[in-house]
Amino acid sequence: AEPLRIALAGLGTVGAGVIRLLETNAALLRARSGRELEIVAVSARERHKDRGVDLSPFAWVDDMAELAARDDVDVVVELVGGSDGPALALARRAIGSGKALVTANKAMVAHHGAELAAAAESAGIALKFEAAVAGGIPVVKALREGAAANAIGRIYGILNGTSNYILSTMEATGAGFDETLAEAQRKGFAEADPAFDIEGTDAAHKLAILAAICFGAEVDFAGVTCEGIARVRAEDIARADTLGYVVRLIGMADLEAGEDGTTALLQRVRPCLVPKGHPLAHVTGATNAVVAEGNFSGRLLFQGAGAGAGPTASAVVADLIDIARGEIGAPFSIPSAEMAPMPRAEAGHRTGR
Ligand code: HSE
Repeated sequence: AEPLRIALAGLGTVGAGVIRLLETNAALLRARSGRELEIVAVSARERHKDRGVDLSPFAWVDDMAELAARDDVDVVVELVGGSDGPALALARRAIGSGKALVTANKAMVAHHGAELAAAAESAGIALKFEAAVAGGIPVVKALREGAAANAIGRIYGILNGTSNYILSTMEATGAGFDETLAEAQRKGFAEADPAFDIEGTDAAHKLAILAAICFGAEVDFAGVTCEGIARVRAEDIARADTLGYVVRLIGMADLEAGEDGTTALLQRVRPCLVPKGHPLAHVTGATNAVVAEGNFSGRLLFQGAGAGAGPTASAVVADLIDIARGEIGAPFSIPSAEMAPMPRAEAGHRTGR
């Protein structure tokens, strides 16, 4: 079969990880995809920078958006980041040019997922974002496909590694907030602007995507009520401990029945007291965990690395394998009759509890 020809935009930690994974696992990827996964062109803000990978086999493209227009490209991988700007321009252009799109960009999918999904579906091309939620945990595929037979009652979890690292380190060592955040930044899993982590925005992006998948709703980031860990103090954690709890930043989405027979989607991110016996209390460090409650599957728990080069690259390349095999699928899920998308206004204003 012909190789799947890939254009890679963004050569940060994850981009370099994807190049390394494609090289290291080339033989097994060829066997599993039925064809070669071949990067043909790359682009990033800065050309000359040591990334520890050899870029010489690939064409360099200065204008990122041009990647989408190339005749020798089948799929664009967007690892630029940012909800709008160059990432969104590239995504729209890729889909508009009939290229499949793989993205790790949770902010872009949370804000523009509905638009991009509609465009991809009407063009009959793949839009995939496994890496946008919970890094290396294949939770998008697991929920959209593996749990597809279930009505999901509730989805919740630890969706921001930086916040979980800060909370669990403060808990274990009694260290202060600021020093622990600085450590998370040094270790490289905090966002470029750590406000996204500690204000809960990053977790809210991921929750909005999960909720759309589980409840057949349009992705609605504006409908997420959000409070991060910025105001959690060492004393709060110590007090929780004496009462038998740990503090975790939890994103949770479920459906609430209204009096008029409609359902409203509730989505919230906030620091929660988690009983020490609950599986999420044992999730420490920059780990993510997602719990889904299916009406036939029962409680499902997914846990793993939510960030980092290897885990995130693993999710990006899984999407590439699907595309190489011709598995396009619906970007989110196909809503059932019972769980039809609720009106957006309803989802937006009934978020408090
Ligand atoms: N800053 C994010 C986190 C990176 O800490 O989880 C992965 O999305």
